[in-house]
Amino acid sequence: MFITFEGIEGSGKTTQVRLLARALREKGYECVPTREPGATEIGKKIRAILLNSSHSSMLPITELLLYEADRAEHVRQVIQPALTAKKIVISDRFFDATTVYQGYARGYDLKVIRQMHRIVLGDLKPDLTIILDLPADLGLKRAWERIRSQHTATGEDRFEKEAVSFHEKVRQGYLALTREEPERIRVIDASGNMLRIHEEIASIVLSLLEDKQPLPR
Ligand code: TMP
Repeated sequence: MFITFEGIEGSGKTTQVRLLARALREKGYECVPTREPGATEIGKKIRAILLNSSHSSMLPITELLLYEADRAEHVRQVIQPALTAKKIVISDRFFDATTVYQGYARGYDLKVIRQMHRIVLGDLKPDLTIILDLPADLGLKRAWERIRSQHTATGEDRFEKEAVSFHEKVRQGYLALTREEPERIRVIDASGNMLRIHEEIASIVLSLLEDKQPLPR
């Protein structure tokens, strides 16, 4: 089973991936939490290039190709092997992020992005995508609080430096995708209590697992 988490900056994806992986392990499932960009050796280097705010003049095509290159490594080295071994893969972002950030927000042609996804992913698609939704200004505020509280600066704030209007386009892009694929994509209100959000997600995931990948009794 392949589950992805999406949302604007500061929506709490990373925390929710961690909580879900822990809950599933407690039930006896084998889980592989992972993320984009940066889950592989090469991916970590690509992540450093993509998120460094000194690269503010990066061309949209460069940005798009780097995300797809990171994803090509991620799929072949991490995701496919884990799915073949019947593990549950939970990824903090995946291809919807490219459709929304590079497509809806940056304005790159959605048809080209979809072609790239066919090349990189073939038929691979998440079984379930959770979108953590909240207003862009609130998400950005949370993201900057986190960045400021980190002891060592990571320099990974190129996207946080974009205007609120950019992040609002990202949010609207995710909501548009949900309307296109309501079977795969579920939107969760991310403005409330972290543990309550986790419980809502866990109940969606557990009922899907019972259907698709029940534990041996
Ligand atoms: P994060 O790991 O903190 O979520 O940071 C990843 C950043 O990269 C985030 O700002 C969203 C952006 N991103 C894209 O623009 N396109 C993509 O395809 C992915 C995976 C992430």
